[in-house]
Amino acid sequence: MNEVIDITEDETIILGVIYGLELRKKDPETEEITITEQLKVKPNQEGIIAFGNLRFKDKTENWSILLNSLNKKEYLNFKEELYSLTDKGRIIGKQIRTQWMSEGYDNLLLRCAKSEAYNLFCEKVFGKSLLQFNAMDMGQLNTMLNSLNLKNNDFVLDLGCGLGKVSEYISNKTGAKIIGIDFSSKAIEWAKFKIQSQNDKVVFQVGNINNLDFSSSIFDAIIAIDTMYFIEDLDSTIKELKRILKPNGQMGIFYAQYRELNESKDLLIAENTTVGKALIINGLSFQATDFTDNAKEIWKREISAAEELKTMFEKEENLILYNDRMEDAKRVLKWIKNEQERRFFYHVKKTDKV
Ligand SMILES: C[S@@+](CC[C@H](N)C(=O)[O-])C[C@H]1O[C@@H](n2cnc3c(N)ncnc32)[C@H](O)[C@@H]1O
Repeated sequence: MNEVIDITEDETIILGVIYGLELRKKDPETEEITITEQLKVKPNQEGIIAFGNLRFKDKTENWSILLNSLNKKEYLNFKEELYSLTDKGRIIGKQIRTQWMSEGYDNLLLRCAKSEAYNLFCEKVFGKSLLQFNAMDMGQLNTMLNSLNLKNNDFVLDLGCGLGKVSEYISNKTGAKIIGIDFSSKAIEWAKFKIQSQNDKVVFQVGNINNLDFSSSIFDAIIAIDTMYFIEDLDSTIKELKRILKPNGQMGIFYAQYRELNESKDLLIAENTTVGKALIINGLSFQATDFTDNAKEIWKREISAAEELKTMFEKEENLILYNDRMEDAKRVLKWIKNEQERRFFYHVKKTDKV
């Protein structure tokens, strides 16, 4: 991936780690970045190594030297003991982080696609298996379809479509033509082979939500099912989505807003959420439906279904899927209980009023 020759693999990793750190919320007064409830760090040497240790424990030994070297080579700024990426450091950091994330999804999604246990899990949790990797059951999906009211041959973009079976279902139900994009090249390869080859209304392509390059005014609708968390600059991406929507275009977005315990509960009001604010800033009106109570039941079902199917996951050597689902479910249920998260469906219209 590197045209740059003055940087080692370990240094590239550090830039990816710092890029990830800079994407997180920073307390403007203390400069502290929240990693987990237990771990808050500053972007100084100690903090970067602590954050790096979460994933690269065996590699961080010489990071103090490498941080210094990256500063000398102008990939990092160093001021008052704190490091930050320079423009050229940010480019490399972003590339490597995107690569890590897409490889992570390659691994998980391909396992889901091939796992009989995951297929059964989806049936139990969502009411039908579309190899979903989200918190949207068939009831929520129907709410979206009723709101969008898609017509035959409407042109729809599915952002972060995963394995593509949700796109296929929507197309079959409505007659819409759907293009699904995802940065997991393995998921897209599978979707092309299993779905696109059988259905001429659905097309899949590898693409990055943070780097869209569609022509203006081409989509009747854009859907984003549990994918807005991965958008790095929500205001400018929503602006971009508005540009590629037709004049009367619509969006259907499922998104759960999280707040830290020390943040105001008002952050969980639909208009104040990160997505809500980005829509408002871009002059888009929307109607939001609160699905938190429904989500709570879905996450509970995830736990019971995962437990029920644990032996099957184990036999398939897919315990990673069991663990992944259990961890997510337990974490979100705790947040919902503490009033730290609310789930919304946003029905957005490009016109002034919904
Ligand atoms: C939580 S899953 C949801 C998948 C699918 N929408 C569904 O409902 O089953 C998030 C999806 O977003 C994709 N994704 C994450 N970041 C992305 C990015 N920057 N560009 C494109 N896809 C991305 C992942 O590969 C994954 O398929």
